[in-house]
Amino acid sequence: MKHLFRFWRLKYSVFLLLFCIALGSCLQFAKKTPIAIDPVPSVVVASANKPVAPIPLAIALDRQKVALGEKLFGDPLLSRDGSVSCASCHLLSLGGTDRLPQSIGIDGLKGELNAPTVLNSVFNFRQFWDGRAETLEEQIDGPIRDRREMDSNWPDIVAKLKANHDYRQQFHQIYPEGITPDNIRNAISTYESSLITPNSRFDRFLRGDEKALSTTEKEGYQNFQAYGCISCHQGVNLGGNMFQSFGIFGDYFTDRGNIKKADLGRYNITQKESDRHVFKVPGLRNVAQTSPYFHDGSADSLAEAVKIMGRYQLGRSLNPKEIDEIVQFLNTLTGEIPTQLKP
Ligand code: HEC
Ligand code: HEC
Repeated sequence: MKHLFRFWRLKYSVFLLLFCIALGSCLQFAKKTPIAIDPVPSVVVASANKPVAPIPLAIALDRQKVALGEKLFGDPLLSRDGSVSCASCHLLSLGGTDRLPQSIGIDGLKGELNAPTVLNSVFNFRQFWDGRAETLEEQIDGPIRDRREMDSNWPDIVAKLKANHDYRQQFHQIYPEGITPDNIRNAISTYESSLITPNSRFDRFLRGDEKALSTTEKEGYQNFQAYGCISCHQGVNLGGNMFQSFGIFGDYFTDRGNIKKADLGRYNITQKESDRHVFKVPGLRNVAQTSPYFHDGSADSLAEAVKIMGRYQLGRSLNPKEIDEIVQFLNTLTGEIPTQLKP
């Protein structure tokens, strides 16, 4: 009898597991497929099954690693000539960006892309506009090596850090192997993981505080859902969890002109025709602080970015009132930088 019960339980668990996997893939599929665009606002604000989630109030991290990572992040010693640090282009006081259309690195060289924020980057499913780095750790090699960013290499960086007494001591306190490229990456990415901005007014609303948003801001959120922005901008970051083509309802790039390699997006990685102009959907957390917008830094204001999104991603001409409501909603996504990290 006991055996029979155990067998039944096992069968039941297997069934439950298969069911969960099937449900999981359906949800995954639903997540990646933009929902049909409904001209009539039909989605209720604060509905039960939200495709968005608040940022956790805290993430448990090794404080020593965070402190070492913070120091490395701000240290120009990581660049070839000691002139550029990660923080040169990702300033916490500027929403984790440089507020330039295209970033400027070593020797005053200009890149082709707008710097995305490092804030909440830990929640992105991939890093970079084209998603070529799977993790924050992997991402770091990009700027370190880039001729127009830091133009350095690991042997040089390790040698420079080893020549510094404080770094030697700090690394050995945390890592038995001391200063290695892996440990440098680990410290920097742990620091980046601490750069989360919880407790925005929107998150307080999601957690049940109805008064955290004004009526207009709630209208904005309703538009954001009803028009289908949320089919791409979703998850904890309201973005950062899928790739999408830029220019679904119109040829953004031909209209803008002067197409560059960086405009090809994921195509540069996969060489697949279907990936031409495909980008990681950017997160919208703190978006009020990170102008200019888009991978090309072409939109100066949120209103302009929202208008372009309506036109090219939804085939919808948004009127000034609708745009204003959405912009007011986007303004509620500004969170708090953890106190110990305030710039
Ligand atoms: C010269 C300016 C510059 C410097 C220096 C720089 N970055 Fe960036 N960062 C950028 C740009 C531009 C991008 C977008 C590049 C791309 O998508 O190909 C970016 C992308 C990122 C991303 C991906 C975010 C996302 O949402 O995809 C992270 C994380 C990041 N940088 C962290 C760092 C770290 C860590 C360092 C130092 C090791 C660093 N950056 C140095 C300009 C810079
Ligand atoms: C089909 C997917 C999709 C839909 C729908 C969509 N977006 Fe986007 N959004 C993207 C992609 C992809 C980008 C990045 C484009 C680029 O720069 O290459 C983006 C970029 C943005 C940006 C700029 C963020 C930054 O940091 O540069 C904002 C703001 C934005 N979207 C808001 C909206 C709003 C508001 C709506 C609804 C009116 C919307 N999006 C609808 C996919 C989408």
